Amino acid sequence: MAGVRRSIVKGCGSYLPRTVVTNRDLEDRVATSDSWIVQRTGIRQRHIAEPDETTSTLGLKAAEAALADAGMAAADIDLVICATSTPDYTFPSTATQIQDGLGIHGGAAFDLQAVCTGFVYAVATADKFLLSGSHRRALVIGAETFSRIVDWEDRTTCVLFGDGAGAIVLEAGEGNGTSADRGVLTSQLRSDGRYRDKLYVDGGPGSTGTTGHLRMQGREVFKFAVGKVIDVVHEAFAATGTGPDDLAWFVPHQANRRIIDASAEKLGIPPEKVVITVDRHGNTSAASIPLAIDAARRDGRIREGDLVMLEAIGGGFTWGSALVRW
Ligand code: ACO
Repeated sequence: MAGVRRSIVKGCGSYLPRTVVTNRDLEDRVATSDSWIVQRTGIRQRHIAEPDETTSTLGLKAAEAALADAGMAAADIDLVICATSTPDYTFPSTATQIQDGLGIHGGAAFDLQAVCTGFVYAVATADKFLLSGSHRRALVIGAETFSRIVDWEDRTTCVLFGDGAGAIVLEAGEGNGTSADRGVLTSQLRSDGRYRDKLYVDGGPGSTGTTGHLRMQGREVFKFAVGKVIDVVHEAFAATGTGPDDLAWFVPHQANRRIIDASAEKLGIPPEKVVITVDRHGNTSAASIPLAIDAARRDGRIREGDLVMLEAIGGGFTWGSALVRW
């Protein structure tokens, strides 16, 4: 097949708030310990947004870095998608604020809410826009301030999350229709609302009129996470005729080291191909994958031509994978 449209990654960027909160710092806030957190989650520290920072200000900095990396001007972008569950406001969307911050006053911008799977959903959505021919260059952003929705008195959740933002630029290009093409090769999205009570926020504009706090049945989430993630990764391999040996890098959602290790092991992906940032960032929800991508790009691990598997699971449940040749 010749002349197949592909959404090709042109650049990436990220931003982390300045303040680092270690596990030891949290020992002063709740009854926890560094060793409990490290043993159960692999998390050692997380970044927390300053009072004057919001999801859109973090997202804007990540977007600017991604544009610089792509060597593009803001005016080149005609689609901005921001994956977030912690928007600055109920409306307008975080994406329109980032769009304005960049000085873009054309094209389309919208938020996408699939919790921790948000970035995978946003990549899949941008890909479909670009493949349709309606748009040419997309900024795909994951940005979160989960520190604003965790219950800082609940030790079972507050130790897990952090703030940050990451972004990539996708541009419509061409390939041959094989897995050797650069670009998004496949995306697999799933959701099942029956799992709502396992991970949710107990408020919202249409229910309580308040923002609410994150609630989670951690053990239950853990039980489902590995199996669901493995399914969508296998589906991505099947859709593209590829397998674990073809992967250069596995970039999972960074929720918990044990979930990541168990998933990689069951998929037959060796530890040296797994990108891990959960130790430094905690779980930054929709921002975790682009933050990990940017870390691995900047230290020279992900290179042009590498086959990279992204996957995530989050509230809903939502889960999904995207296979991308860089
Ligand atoms: N510090 C010390 N003790 C704690 C803490 C803490 N921060 N939190 C809970 N405990 C205690 C519990 O109270 C419990 O004590 P008890 O036995 O006296 O009742 C004990 O530790 C064990 O609690 P569990 O919840 O059973 O611990 P578990 O081994 O399941 O680990 C964890 C909890 C880390 C949350 C784990 O279940 C997990 O990782 N689940 C997946 C959660 C996750 O990754 N969510 C995000 C994915 S989706 C998304 O990204 C939105």
